[in-house]
Amino acid sequence: MSKIVVVVGSLRAESYNRQFAQALTRLPAAAGHDFVFADIGELPLYDQDDDADQAQSVKDLKELVRSSDGVIFVTPEYNRSIPGVLKNAIDHASRPYGDSAWAGKPAGVIGVSIGAVGTALAQQHLRNVLAYLDMPTLGAPEAFIQWKDGLITPEGTIGEQSAGFVGGWLEAFFALVDRHQD
Ligand code: FNR
Repeated sequence: MSKIVVVVGSLRAESYNRQFAQALTRLPAAAGHDFVFADIGELPLYDQDDDADQAQSVKDLKELVRSSDGVIFVTPEYNRSIPGVLKNAIDHASRPYGDSAWAGKPAGVIGVSIGAVGTALAQQHLRNVLAYLDMPTLGAPEAFIQWKDGLITPEGTIGEQSAGFVGGWLEAFFALVDRHQD
């Protein structure tokens, strides 16, 4: 069983990405694994002056990531990049220099947008960041999800048209995690 941290890049109460992330954890491929959602909305704005005395919410995020076997980033696309709240969280847990919580953690990148681009450009920016942070990131399959009726069922599961594809993505992510177990 793996412990996976899920980082959702939207704070919106009815976030499609959060709904999708929760549905992802209910797929058959998720069975037996432990998913913990990171609370990035509680983090202060990153300020390098605080590196020597990080806020408790930052310490908690770093401890959560360190205790995990991998991280799934589920992010919207904002203006063709990742939301500031997600970058803020990533920056916090990467510091102080030499004490990043992200290094070596296998990562999956997926996201939902209302546009046909399906967060492709945000994901590409995020991949660049994760490469610098030394996070081995699932390369294929890519998953660019457009929000549409039926993507999430009233029961909060992935709809039947997408469940097979998303389930395959999750299986590929767990294979990546397995390849990077100590
Ligand atoms: C967006 N949205 C958007 N969509 C997209 O496909 N490409 C983009 O570049 C953007 N840019 C963008 C900027 C900002 C500031 C906002 C608020 C929104 C629309 C976006 O896909 C939509 O709001 C989603 O519903 C956001 O995801 P959550 O919050 O529902 O998870």
